Amino acid sequence: MENSKLINEDGKISHKEQFAIDVLTGLCSSPKQLPSKYFYDDIGSDIFQKITNHDDYYLTRTEFEILSKFKNDIPDYVEEDEIDIIELGAGDGHKSQLILQGFLNKGKRVNYYPIDISSEAMDQLKKTITPHENLMINGIVAEYLMGLRFLRKKSKNKQIVLFLGSNIGNFDRVQNQAFLRQLWNSLNTDDLVLIGFDLKKSVPILTTAYNDSAGLTRDFNLNLLHRINTELGGNFDLNKFDHFGCYNPVLGAMQSYLISNEPQKVYIGEIQRSFLFDASEPIHLEHSFKYLRSDISYLCEQTGFSLENNFADDNEYFIDSLWKVAKGV
Ligand code: AVJ
Repeated sequence: MENSKLINEDGKISHKEQFAIDVLTGLCSSPKQLPSKYFYDDIGSDIFQKITNHDDYYLTRTEFEILSKFKNDIPDYVEEDEIDIIELGAGDGHKSQLILQGFLNKGKRVNYYPIDISSEAMDQLKKTITPHENLMINGIVAEYLMGLRFLRKKSKNKQIVLFLGSNIGNFDRVQNQAFLRQLWNSLNTDDLVLIGFDLKKSVPILTTAYNDSAGLTRDFNLNLLHRINTELGGNFDLNKFDHFGCYNPVLGAMQSYLISNEPQKVYIGEIQRSFLFDASEPIHLEHSFKYLRSDISYLCEQTGFSLENNFADDNEYFIDSLWKVAKGV
């Protein structure tokens, strides 16, 4: 690693130190856990990309279907001739392309600002988006809310924020409220957000999606241990952990675990301590929350938006929900 310094000159905590703190906190917790936001280094983003193309992972395919069907309806909610489209975690851009196309088809000028923490993902994205004379693309490598704050100062246009792909599913009910309220805060009244929600459905469909037959989800989870090895000097043996994904019907969420398949001790150099694992001890890595239509309306109302439309597929597997920012009197 070229940057082994933990504290920056100005005394701020570096990304690496924050990662070390979060790993320490997570592995000291009982049960042990690690935050899913650290999945997305360049390798992780690449594996996730492969997951989205796998047949077992219905989410991406379904949302693509929805956006193909409704792409020309979404611009009806915007009167202005010019708009900023801000995307949080754009992925490879295939879904984004549909939405941009919808606006360009109506002759609108579009300023597209994808925000992603992975520069790898950003490079991928630039390959997918077709250039157009009315399309300006300006990628921002940052965490979502930092990127939004930056943009708020920069532009006076009407804004639509895309938060697709059930990315919101990683937040629990409390984090959701906080995130959406900060989003609300960074926007003006009548701005729009389009959020992808994965719906509650039969459990076997869910568990198949998070235990794909190619083992991609397993590799995706194990990559977080690999990342701790390379970035924080850990000595996790990836062969000594098994992936386990299950649906918790009380929480309404898929849960991903790595389970230690023998008693073991793992040392992490950057933290200067070791962590003991019992046989069969789990590390919890991810929640992917699933929604009912009523959960979506409730969340929308609670956080200061008004629900404009729910765009769903025929199977009711997934919804892209269009909300308008409601502020003032
Ligand atoms: C990117 C958070 C939407 O939760 O479905 C895919 C990540 N995890 N397979 C999801 C993921 C396991 C994905 N999100």
